[in-house]
Amino acid sequence: DSSPNGGNGQSRGKFTSSGFIFAAIGSAVGLGNMWKFPYITGLYGGAAFFFLFIICLLAVGLPVLLAELAVGRGGRGNASSSYYRLSGSKLWGGLGFLSVLGPFVILSFYAIVAGWTLHYAVISFTGKLFENADFGVRFGGFIGSWMIVFWQFVVMLLTGWIVWLGVSSGIERFNKILIPGLVILLLVMVVRVLTLEGAGEGVSFFLRPDFSKLTAESALVALGHAFFSLSLGMGAMMTYGSYVDRRQSLGAATLAIGFGDLLYAFLAGLIIFPTTAVFGLEASQGPGLVFVALPAAFSAMPLGALFGGLFFLLLAFASLTSTVSLLEVPVAFASDTFGWNRRTSVIIVTLLCFLVGLPSSFSVGGLYSGLSFGGKSFFDWMDFVASNILLPICGLVVTLFAGYVWKGAAEEAGLNAWWFKVWLFMLRFVAPLLVLLVFLYSAGLLPD
Ligand code: PHE
Repeated sequence: DSSPNGGNGQSRGKFTSSGFIFAAIGSAVGLGNMWKFPYITGLYGGAAFFFLFIICLLAVGLPVLLAELAVGRGGRGNASSSYYRLSGSKLWGGLGFLSVLGPFVILSFYAIVAGWTLHYAVISFTGKLFENADFGVRFGGFIGSWMIVFWQFVVMLLTGWIVWLGVSSGIERFNKILIPGLVILLLVMVVRVLTLEGAGEGVSFFLRPDFSKLTAESALVALGHAFFSLSLGMGAMMTYGSYVDRRQSLGAATLAIGFGDLLYAFLAGLIIFPTTAVFGLEASQGPGLVFVALPAAFSAMPLGALFGGLFFLLLAFASLTSTVSLLEVPVAFASDTFGWNRRTSVIIVTLLCFLVGLPSSFSVGGLYSGLSFGGKSFFDWMDFVASNILLPICGLVVTLFAGYVWKGAAEEAGLNAWWFKVWLFMLRFVAPLLVLLVFLYSAGLLPD
């Protein structure tokens, strides 16, 4: 292989067709669905926002998802070398490198919050969480302690271990167990919550839209979230796509992944909003919703420790299937580029990512509050750079690449002539424009 970062002659991993769907849904479903989606939905008015999210998912998310999968499978490389191979241009390979950087940065702080969910699962099952009713104080104390570094390490270790085991015996096997497990946990929680007295009010907040609440801002947030939720612009779907068999239909896979992601968001909403309604909690209170408000609700429920534990376990599982997909991107890149074998690559990248995440850990709960600049903690800066800058840029890169540059897109995507036209139209005109708007908005460059 003569490309600069194209492969080192080792055979690439391979998913079975169902294994790929599980892994991709696992990547999509994560803290985004269970932690971020509920609170932004609460913030932007409930059902109307959910409705917008669905539109964005279908109209922009799915076309871009298909583009990422196609570039990955067509290029048979990592998130940078796939671009290079399909275009022969170093410029595109370099742009692709941004989508290797993005997941590395995201993982550095995503693992921290994933660690909180693991910790909360443990202290919920053991009942320790409910010893004291002051959940806000407990949460503040926890995230301001060294414990969060410990849990961050545990998450990185688990993630590294699964990726170390390889594409089919690690990532695929793990997702095939966890994703069905997640559905069961979710359904148990949904039944529990919907049978609480007064749950209906929360359901209607979530599902009965009040369109007067919609604003341009909420539309941009919905679109940004559709991207994040589908794991787009982060090289993750592209890297997974490169392990997909040539005969598998990417169009069908795209629909399955989109549907899976939406279903999880829907079920998460059916858990969170009735709970907040029944216990008089504020759904829009931000990230604390899950770690402060919900424990209060669980403590007031019969068998609360069990359901609380299950809920946080659900969150932890959902995040692990995402962290695995995040880690695979730089791991695949590093082994292709530097000729390392998978294990060396996993050890080095995991360790580096943990180290890069440390300042985020220190800054988020005030262990070391000197790590704040311009009103944002280090954690928030990392989130900002990755989610608001790198993600939309890489989203734009993949849309323009598949829409204008790469001539083999049609064949790789395998759509019929009519759908191909629709897809191309979305990629050429609709998606770039909207993604550009999101970028300008979220980077703070759009005038009010
Ligand atoms: N989609 C994941 C979530 O919703 C996050 C993620 C983003 C994972 C990008 C991989 C790549 O939590």
